[in-house]
Amino acid sequence: MKARDVILNSLQGEQVPYTPIWIMRQAGRYLPEYRDLRAKAKTFTNLYQTPEMASEVTLMPIKRFPLDAAIVFSDILIVLDAINLQVSFVTGEGPIIGNPIRTDKDIANLATTTDLDNYRYLADTLKICRSELSEQALIGFIGSPWTLAAYAVEGGSGASSATKNFTNLRKMTYQQPQLMHKLLKRLSDEVIELAMMQIDSGANVIQIFDSWAGLLNHDYYRNFSYAYIKLIVETLKERRPDTPCIVFAKCTPFSPQEMAECKPNAIGIDWLVDLATAFNQVGATTTIQGNLDPAALYADIPILDEEINKIMTARRNNANVRHIFNLGHGIYPDIEPDKVAYLVDAVHNYSSS
Ligand code: CP3
Repeated sequence: MKARDVILNSLQGEQVPYTPIWIMRQAGRYLPEYRDLRAKAKTFTNLYQTPEMASEVTLMPIKRFPLDAAIVFSDILIVLDAINLQVSFVTGEGPIIGNPIRTDKDIANLATTTDLDNYRYLADTLKICRSELSEQALIGFIGSPWTLAAYAVEGGSGASSATKNFTNLRKMTYQQPQLMHKLLKRLSDEVIELAMMQIDSGANVIQIFDSWAGLLNHDYYRNFSYAYIKLIVETLKERRPDTPCIVFAKCTPFSPQEMAECKPNAIGIDWLVDLATAFNQVGATTTIQGNLDPAALYADIPILDEEINKIMTARRNNANVRHIFNLGHGIYPDIEPDKVAYLVDAVHNYSSS
């Protein structure tokens, strides 16, 4: 069975011959070949907006490791740039939004229609990747409306204390909830179009990243984040019924069972969630993706091996569950590629033996 079918079948609820694996942020700075091309491209924007380079980066981890899927090289924030918020990526500081949203007028001033021409480079990157990937699945992705709003409203780079606390974002949530909902609905409409474009250009799977779920309490998570994730998953299920969706939320106040309510094909969990509990709650109906602590890749091999084994044992103890191996968040830029090679082989070997 092709790697692509192993991961896609697992997402569709079938039992598969081994545990598939891919790694969030697998195309990135921990790879020396990425750093070389990144230096040649001069800017991150130039790198992801040039299909020849962006596709090369997407395929870099696939050439090195027997991963089961590639994730297209792009960023969740491209949608904010497309609606005129002027995103810039400042090396060492993170993203900065030139036109942050603070008022109703700011929302009214957003570019009004989704113009897919804004994303031509991404469509072209996906087409190149699709034609070059004979074995693996290709994953497209979007940010959740809440996580995108975190950047769109806050605007800063993380350097000031207001930005660190997401003061503007959280003030708007409590002081002007209707304005926040207006923005979240607007962002939902945009990312639905962006996801469909990626599917139509060759993505086999869509992952929704809710990286800032952890800023909200349980009730507010339901209202300000999950409601829109649900809208997106349900709309994609209606409009592109054959393409599986993965919902990954970092530090979410929701249990795995609650995350699975909107019926995504998989939920991605971080390393704070107990894997056995997640399997017990939803493992027979929803694939669980995760959840090795990315810092475990700093460990020497015997410790790393132990951590991988704990995850594989939780899987083995639950015969009917569905699992895709991943880290609990993106890989760190200073991880040695040899550790990733070890991880991928270990997951495949432990699950097929
Ligand atoms: O390999 C892959 O996973 C594909 C590429 C990818 C990038 N960003 C490339 C990138 C993906 C899936 C993302 C998602 C993303 N972007 C998220 C969600 C996942 C997460 O980590 O929580 C978020 C929150 C962003 C926003 C973003 N983009 C930040 C905060 C930063 C700066 C911090 C950082 O990681 O460097 C970026 C820039 C960015 N996106 C880089 C890369 C490779 C670094 C750019 C560089 O090389 O200078």
